[in-house]
Amino acid sequence: MSQPHPVADAEIAGRKTVAVLGSTGSIGVNTLEVARQLTDRIRVSGLSAHRNLDLLVQQTREFNPDWIVATNESCAKKYRWPKLPGTQLLIGHDQLDQLVTDVQTQVVVAAIVGTAGLRSTLAALQAGKTVALANKETLVAAGPLVMDLAARSDATILPVDSEHNAVFQCMQSGRRSEVHRVCLTASGGPFRNFSREQMQLVTAEQALAHPTWDMGQKISIDSATMMNKALEIIEARWLFDLSPDQIEVVVHPQSIVHSLVEFVDGSVIAQMSPPDMKLPIQHALTWPDRVTGPARRMMFQDAMSLEFRPPDIGRFPAIALGLQVARQAGTAGAVLNAANEAAVAAFLDRKIGFCDIVRACQDVLQQHAFEPQPTIEQILEMDRWAREETGKWILA
Ligand SMILES: NC(=O)c1ccc[n+]([C@@H]2O[C@H](COP(=O)([O-])OP(=O)(O)OC[C@H]3O[C@@H](n4cnc5c(N)ncnc54)[C@H](OP(=O)(O)O)[C@@H]3O)[C@@H](O)[C@H]2O)c1
Repeated sequence: MSQPHPVADAEIAGRKTVAVLGSTGSIGVNTLEVARQLTDRIRVSGLSAHRNLDLLVQQTREFNPDWIVATNESCAKKYRWPKLPGTQLLIGHDQLDQLVTDVQTQVVVAAIVGTAGLRSTLAALQAGKTVALANKETLVAAGPLVMDLAARSDATILPVDSEHNAVFQCMQSGRRSEVHRVCLTASGGPFRNFSREQMQLVTAEQALAHPTWDMGQKISIDSATMMNKALEIIEARWLFDLSPDQIEVVVHPQSIVHSLVEFVDGSVIAQMSPPDMKLPIQHALTWPDRVTGPARRMMFQDAMSLEFRPPDIGRFPAIALGLQVARQAGTAGAVLNAANEAAVAAFLDRKIGFCDIVRACQDVLQQHAFEPQPTIEQILEMDRWAREETGKWILA
């Protein structure tokens, strides 16, 4: 029989204190749904929001956190804050540091979207916290620095991204040295059966309507272009210390198998569950325990088919770009990530077409002055440069 886990037992007695950065987003709201069901295990100690302050106030009234941070200063200063007894309000992005490094905070859920989530994730890692990482852009932009910081600070990163959480679970079936390759599954998004000509005409409304997942705007567009899979290839490369040649993408339209790990003997281990982010979030929050929670469950009474097919790189060039950037490393990830964020925003503003998103990323990547071992300052500078260049590309 296995020995009780001493850390887990101590945490159950006192409940884990969890700060949710980006609590008003899709991952944030799902995290609070998990916390609502697991009050015996989780105490929400902090929340952060950018613009949706009505929802932040509503969440504060329900969860009574010690701190809340309103990161968008101009929105926060105009807002008529009600009395929130027992909760301290902090205004400004810099204040996230105080929330994540607070001695009370044990777990930080990094659910801010984009590079905006980088700084607070680094601060949490530096403070040796457990980070339940949804914000994949952090690893895409600064993977080696993030993993090195986590190792030096004795911090733990637990993946929330469903594919990486699945890989993390599958990897527990063997030794790390026995992993042959990792297959990241992709639903293929709403346009998996569209021709190149049809894709030229795609609108933002069509791109936002994901067939299997309900997500925030940016990741929904990333899923439609399959840039999400490109970012996930890079994320997996750093998170699991894989060679890019060990990472493959397989299209699986049902989104039931969240990823697969093949071991050297040929055994393939898959993690299956309905498409519901509450499961990987809960897994990260309760790890190393498994408990009953609010996520949807498989219904094997209903007939179902699971399909797997290789991605069409011709129609979805983002995947090749992801592998290329995973091989290049250095500043390439920061450039791809920033160019993509800027291009997605321009597409949502109806300034460029759907297929222009990946084209802009390809062009900006080609122009950049590659630095193989950047510091965090160089990464931030490259992020700024790539956004500016993408802006020029959009106007050209
Ligand atoms: N949604 C999913 O199913 C899913 C799955 C896997 C991974 N992820 C990753 O998880 C992260 C969050 O995704 P999401 O879908 O939850 O995004 P989302 O719904 O757009 O929510 C983003 C959150 O970040 C906040 N935010 C936005 N801009 C900010 C800024 N400049 N500074 C600080 N906070 C800011 C938002 O605040 P306001 O709403 O108050 O403005 C909101 O709380 C992304 O990195 C995404 O790739 C998401």
